[in-house]
Amino acid sequence: MFETYLRRDSLFAEKGALSDEFRPQALLHREREQKMLANVLLPALRGDKPSNLFIYGKTGTGKTIGTRFVCSEMESFAREKRLPLKVVYVNAQLKKVADTEYRLISTLASHFGVTLPATGLPTGKIYKAFSSALDTQKSLVLIVIDEIDNVVRKCGNELLYNLMRINSELKSSRVSIIGITNDLNLLKQVDSRVRSSLSEEELVFAPYDATQLSDILEARSSVAFQPGVIDQSVIPKCAAYAAREHGDARRALNLLRMAGEVAERSGAPRIDATHVDMAVEKLDTETAVEFVKNQPLQSKAVLYTIIALKETHPDFTTGDIYTKYKAVCPLFGQKCLTQRRVSDLINELASTGILSADVVSKGRYGRSKTIDLLVNNQTLVKISATLRAEVVAAY
Ligand SMILES: Nc1ncnc2c1ncn2[C@@H]1O[C@H](COP(=O)(O)OP(=O)(O)O)[C@@H](O)[C@H]1O
Ligand SMILES: [Mg+2]
Repeated sequence: MFETYLRRDSLFAEKGALSDEFRPQALLHREREQKMLANVLLPALRGDKPSNLFIYGKTGTGKTIGTRFVCSEMESFAREKRLPLKVVYVNAQLKKVADTEYRLISTLASHFGVTLPATGLPTGKIYKAFSSALDTQKSLVLIVIDEIDNVVRKCGNELLYNLMRINSELKSSRVSIIGITNDLNLLKQVDSRVRSSLSEEELVFAPYDATQLSDILEARSSVAFQPGVIDQSVIPKCAAYAAREHGDARRALNLLRMAGEVAERSGAPRIDATHVDMAVEKLDTETAVEFVKNQPLQSKAVLYTIIALKETHPDFTTGDIYTKYKAVCPLFGQKCLTQRRVSDLINELASTGILSADVVSKGRYGRSKTIDLLVNNQTLVKISATLRAEVVAAY
């Protein structure tokens, strides 16, 4: 088996070209966004502080790559012309970067060569250390905070508020903040003081359409695959699927990679449309499982209840759900909610499309809900396993 595997040529030339870490040579179909970004940041080249910028858009619309692209071009230009400009990029989704206010500020400070102890200093001290590190730069500093919603969630408003005001502590440097997020409602959740400074300028990244996704995939596939191994239906099919979801380039790239893996595993010499179909199924399963993992424990308990009832009593009523739920709830280490709240949770799950809950009339027995799970069997098996693991973990 190992021999045959090694002797067979891989369909991939450089699989990494389909991953998130890959930095492509060029950015496609983001001219408007790049121009707008550059326009906001241009004053930095003359030593003037650019407005803070708030960038948002759905996941996979090129926010991270687009921002990094423009910032790094600007930085190299500045280096060439010996202009004092420095760009710092942090991803707040990473635990070790932005778990706490302390961590984030010390991470930022570390970009200026200042190492702070991992814990222990009072907050005032780390801000002081950070601002003096900034000041010794004698430079314009652009701080890019990607996935900035994590900062708000974990550290509250105070950190951003302090960061926005840090210029008042500086004599020789100036700082602008670029915040990036997928969370379209973030601005509504922050303090009005933070909101107005963070969003001095705003930039929206729109979803890609199928043609644009095709172009992005085409460019990437020429690096990722051996020549001639992709059937011409493959890329348009991946692009159409990702465009229907929400124009997400990451999803399109994942799908193409998975189609390649499916084909390779089955020993096919080329990737064709049937491999894309199989990859879609796998990706849908992964997405559904991921979704379930991220649900609050009470919703998990409700879903667990419904799945268990489907197996044993396919004709269950809303009353049955509540009875069973009361037995399941302790397994998730939770206190039971009222029947009314459980009914709300069922409706919430229904609104996400994982199940349907339709009210039907039962004649003289009144009205009841019929509940159907809207995922295929393979997905259901995986979801069940995920929920069962959770029950075990609660003990
Ligand atoms: N315009 C583009 N040209 C080339 N690759 C792109 C483009 N937009 C997105 N990508 C790729 O799609 C993936 C997701 O993009 P990313 O910038 O991380 O999205 P976001 O930050 O908006 O979630 C990355 O692998 C990125 O390289
Ligand atoms: Mg991103």
